[in-house]
Amino acid sequence: MKILVIIGTPHKGNTRAVTDLFLDEFRADGADIEEIVLPRDFGETCLGCANCILHGEDKCPHHEKVSFIVEKMRAADLIITATPVFVYSCTGAMKSLLDHLAYMWLVHRPDESMFGKIGLIITSAGGAGVKETVKLLKSNMSYWGISSVHKFGVTTMKMNGNYADYKDKDKIKRQVKVTAQKVRKSVERKKVGFGTKFLFGIFGMTQKNGWNKTDSDYWKKNGWLDGKKPF
Ligand SMILES: Cc1cc2nc3c(=O)[nH]c(=O)nc-3n(C[C@H](O)[C@H](O)[C@H](O)COP(=O)(O)O)c2cc1C
Repeated sequence: MKILVIIGTPHKGNTRAVTDLFLDEFRADGADIEEIVLPRDFGETCLGCANCILHGEDKCPHHEKVSFIVEKMRAADLIITATPVFVYSCTGAMKSLLDHLAYMWLVHRPDESMFGKIGLIITSAGGAGVKETVKLLKSNMSYWGISSVHKFGVTTMKMNGNYADYKDKDKIKRQVKVTAQKVRKSVERKKVGFGTKFLFGIFGMTQKNGWNKTDSDYWKKNGWLDGKKPF
């Protein structure tokens, strides 16, 4: 199994610790793991030109750096997005990367390789905001075309805590094992779900009279307006 971890913080804290618990599980299976640490590997903020959506992703001022990450996403069976909760959301660094990937939402130009991939979202919060953060990341991964997205959120009740000191760390370890097993099963099945297929169909209809020529040309070129499917 090839795994790409996109972790939205360089901080070696709770999110890192929980992510490492998962990676230990997958390493034991012989997984091949690559990591993007934000903002170290991508620190750009979207400038709002919308060139990616309107004129092609290669027209983004940060194209080279974005495509470096997209290539790694394409190669992975499992994409892990991990982030602490900052003001009820993901970190700014994670959000900046997500913004740069708007062009590949199903409504625009989905990347064929995303269909059948598996997602895993890992979040850690001091007290509240896991639900909201997971929702944001889940929307992004689902709209990239990933049907099967697993979630793992922890509430630490500690700012700048050290996971190793947590009284419920054994419980977290057990929960990680259970979720890791579900992820493995999904990776074996690589299923494209009904919801994804349905949305692909709906967005395909809108592309027939598309308002954005770059998007509709892309759907046409792929044969998706003539009945061909990416899954
Ligand atoms: C700028 C900032 C904003 C935060 N906002 C929230 C929040 O909205 N809700 C919450 O429960 N914890 C919040 N926290 C606490 C962190 O989510 C929590 O400590 C998390 O486990 C830190 O992860 P890390 O150790 O991987 O950096 C915030 C922390 C920081 C630094």
